[in-house]
Amino acid sequence: MTDFVHVFQPPAAPDAPVLLLLHGTGGSEHDLLPLAEMLAPGAGVLSPRGKVLERGMPRFFRRLAEGVFDIADLKQRTQELADFVTESAATYKFSTRTLIAVGFSNGANIAGALLLLRHEVLGGAILFRAMVPLTPDTLPQIPGTPVLVSNGGVDPLVSAEETEHLAALLRSAGAEVTVAWQAAGHELTESDITTAREWLTKRPLLAR
Ligand code: MLT
Repeated sequence: MTDFVHVFQPPAAPDAPVLLLLHGTGGSEHDLLPLAEMLAPGAGVLSPRGKVLERGMPRFFRRLAEGVFDIADLKQRTQELADFVTESAATYKFSTRTLIAVGFSNGANIAGALLLLRHEVLGGAILFRAMVPLTPDTLPQIPGTPVLVSNGGVDPLVSAEETEHLAALLRSAGAEVTVAWQAAGHELTESDITTAREWLTKRPLLAR
């Protein structure tokens, strides 16, 4: 099996969702477990640790500078992560059709890349503080795929233009994108969690 250090917790009930947790720079496979419990109590989780180290801090792909990505590395790491998700679904017996990515910052950016390059491994995505990861050569067809982008109105790393660009890119691929603006910077806030929880409960098809 593709090797990612990871945590897997099965869903508490057969109809509970499974969340793919993708941490931010310097995080680990344990970081977002409390967030998952707040978003969807009893959800299953697959939580890998990013394999790239930037001065000792785990990430999901290399960057050349803050917000400037190594696109070749990002593409390769996206494929590797998608293969890991596919293999994990077979091993742990869950469906990728209803798998929801929950990514923060660097994790949100690779979740966006999964939607653009390997959308078959996800049923939807919650992206906290996301940027445009890359522009694909060919736009995927992901009609109706639900995506929540929850970004901060005063985020020094992600501008409003970047957020709108990401939403437009995903919408042009057919995704059903909700953009939620938080009165926040790059850090997650209580209202991110409330927004995401409400967004999830309005999508019972995902919560199976
Ligand atoms: C990234 O590198 O993905 C973004 O700059 C966000 C971050 O991880 O700081």
